[in-house]
Parts: sequence; C-alpha cells; structure tokens
Amino acid sequence: MSLQVFPDAQALAQGAALALAGLIETAQNARGMCRIALSGGSTPRRLHHALATAPLAGRIDWTRCAFYFGDERVVPLSDERSNARMAQETLFQPLGIPTAQIFPMVLDPTQPEAEAQRYEALLQRFDGVFDIVLLGMGSDGHCASLFPDTPALLETHRRVVANLAPQLDPPRLTLTYPALEAAREVAVLVSGPDKAATLAQVMTGDSRLPLGRLAARRPLHWWLDAEAGHLIATPTTET
Ligand code: 6PG
Repeated sequence: MSLQVFPDAQALAQGAALALAGLIETAQNARGMCRIALSGGSTPRRLHHALATAPLAGRIDWTRCAFYFGDERVVPLSDERSNARMAQETLFQPLGIPTAQIFPMVLDPTQPEAEAQRYEALLQRFDGVFDIVLLGMGSDGHCASLFPDTPALLETHRRVVANLAPQLDPPRLTLTYPALEAAREVAVLVSGPDKAATLAQVMTGDSRLPLGRLAARRPLHWWLDAEAGHLIATPTTET
C-alpha cells in the first residue's frame, strides 16, 4: 500500500510514471519481464506521455514488457472509444512497441463472450497473475469495467468476463475481482475534483462501491492529484 498525492495533474503524471517505472523494474528483476494491464479512460493519457518521453522512455527496458488491458469497450480497435486505440496512440506508437508485445482485449467486437474466453485462455499462460494492474476510478466508484450493480461484480472464478449490462453503452469486457486480487501490484490513478468525495468513501473500504470492495480486500498504490485527494491527504512535497 502506498499513497502519493501530487499538486496537480501534470505532477501526478510525472510522479506516477516514476513510481510505475520502479514497479516495472522490480518485476523485470524478479521474473525477467513485466506483464502489465493498462487502464482505459482519459486519465492515463498524461501518464502514457510521461512514460513515452525522456527520461523514462530511455530508462525502462520496454523489450521486457507485455501489455494487456484491465477492460475494454466492445468496439472495433479503430473506434475512438477503444482503450487499445488510446494506448496505441499515446504509448505503443511513441515507444515503438511491437504488436507481439501487445494483447488487446477485444479483437472481434461482434463476439464479446468468445473474446472474454480467448483472453481468459491468454491469461492462463501466466496463471492469470499480472505483475501490475493499473486502474482508474469513475465518480460512481467503478474500476476497470466493474460498474455498480452489474453482473461482472459477482464473478468469483473467471479472470475476464463480458459485462453486458444494459446501462453500459457500449458493453464492456473487464478483469474481475479474482484477477485484480491475484495481481502482484495494483495502482489506482485518480485525478480531478469530481472524484474527491467518492475517493474518500472508497478509501474507507466501502464495499458498496466496486473500488471500495477491492480496497477492503488487498493493498493498493494510490496515485492522486490534490483535486482528487484533498479530502484524504495534503500533496506530497516531492513530485
Ligand atoms: C474505461 C476505464 C475506466 C476508467 C474510469 C476513469 O474503460 O473507461 O477503464 O474504468 O478508468 O472510468 O476514467 P477517466 O480516467 O476518463 O476519468
């Protein structure tokens, strides 16, 4: 468990990138490579930029990283809503990551259940244990695509499911609690004033919120900016 609150969104991106670099190198030193599941949404864009520019771009051995996803919208890879497309544009392309190191969650958006089974089999190659999972948080307390009152919250065995709840448009694929609880490290990146109240509730381990339920069950790294974290702690001095 670690908590870092940075003065603003840019300092958060830089600080989180530095902390993530350390987690990546720890995994690589221990097991030769790092299997990381990226988060979707908009917050990771700045983080990806910090990772893909100096000094971190040249510090991390990207050849020993395999990139997965914590969730995905059931849309084509070309769709602007695709998390894989966002990562391609902001991280993989700038770093020149070969496609052999990238494992998108949705290849065929017409077959969400089959895609979940395909990804489940992929994860079984390494016992479904990620070295690092990056998560964001929605203002409703969701993480990945574990949204309140959706069936995916109830999964206790599979590591990946299609979450086809009617309120999700587009539908999603998501890692489940078993996958998130099994990961060696889980880091939560939260930015902006609209999340401050929910974040404070989540960090109490309030299991009524999906991320709160995870926080009650395992240690998390919390990487926050002051706008999101001001109800929890004052910004750290170092950035
Ligand atoms: C997604 C994400 C989702 C995201 C949160 C926060 O596919 O959208 O995985 O869980 O992390 O909704 O999104 P923002 O970073 O855009 O606030």
